[in-house]
Amino acid sequence: MQDVVRGSELYKGKAKTVYATSDPRYLVMHYRDDVSAFDGAKLAKLDRKGETNNLINAYVMGRLAEAGVASHFVRVLNERESLVKAMKMLPVECVVRNVVAGSMAKRYGIAEGTKLAEPVFEFFLKSDALHDPLVNDDHIRILGWAGAGEIAEMKALTHKVNGVLKPMFAKAGIDLVDYKLEFGHPVDDPNGPIVLGDEFTPDGCRLWDAATGEKMDKDRFRRDLGSVIEHYREVGRRIGVPNM
Ligand code: TMP
Ligand code: ASP
Repeated sequence: MQDVVRGSELYKGKAKTVYATSDPRYLVMHYRDDVSAFDGAKLAKLDRKGETNNLINAYVMGRLAEAGVASHFVRVLNERESLVKAMKMLPVECVVRNVVAGSMAKRYGIAEGTKLAEPVFEFFLKSDALHDPLVNDDHIRILGWAGAGEIAEMKALTHKVNGVLKPMFAKAGIDLVDYKLEFGHPVDDPNGPIVLGDEFTPDGCRLWDAATGEKMDKDRFRRDLGSVIEHYREVGRRIGVPNM
């Protein structure tokens, strides 16, 4: 895919807009400055968020590719846009937690910051209207959101990502507390292996400064802590993202 011509708008999410290209196997992912929390209940615009997340995502997807984790990411096109493979996404979110925080702390009454002996994997149904309920393998398989093989692949890949990103952030003095991944099948290989889609940015994970515990992720927006993008860019600088 050499010359990319951006086509019509296909889908406008809370922080990104997806456009068609002249080739149905590829899409343009446009990172806007919009930020959303609590399933769209809290919205704002943050200056330079789009370009910051586009660069951080590209860098992380590159590191994952080097480690053998296939994703839909192809290449950066411009400041706010990347070329990706068109995917049929599975309607679940895969969360891995290394440290207790957020909904897990609340659900089980455990203090935020409690370390976990092993990474804990959780599935959530992707539905803002239902506030992304926690679901188990049986719900997913029997209600038809994904098959048993896809469930196993999502778990294995999400754990593999943890094996790459947890040490990558640790070297940068950052604890990777938890994160969310989404998977799908490339439209030109619907029966092949699943591939990582969506994004990996500070919007979809928790990152705490290893020395001070300071939050460097979207909890700064959720909890009104201020200087959100300054912290995203500090994450980028520390892990080695160019132009941060
Ligand atoms: P939680 O503590 O709210 O369940 O979130 C766990 C992690 O997954 C946290 O880093 C935020 C991320 N996440 C999203 O980015 N979007 C979502 O819809 C969900 C459920 C989690
Ligand atoms: N990603 C969801 C939203 O944009 C949930 C959250 O991050 O709080 O509303």
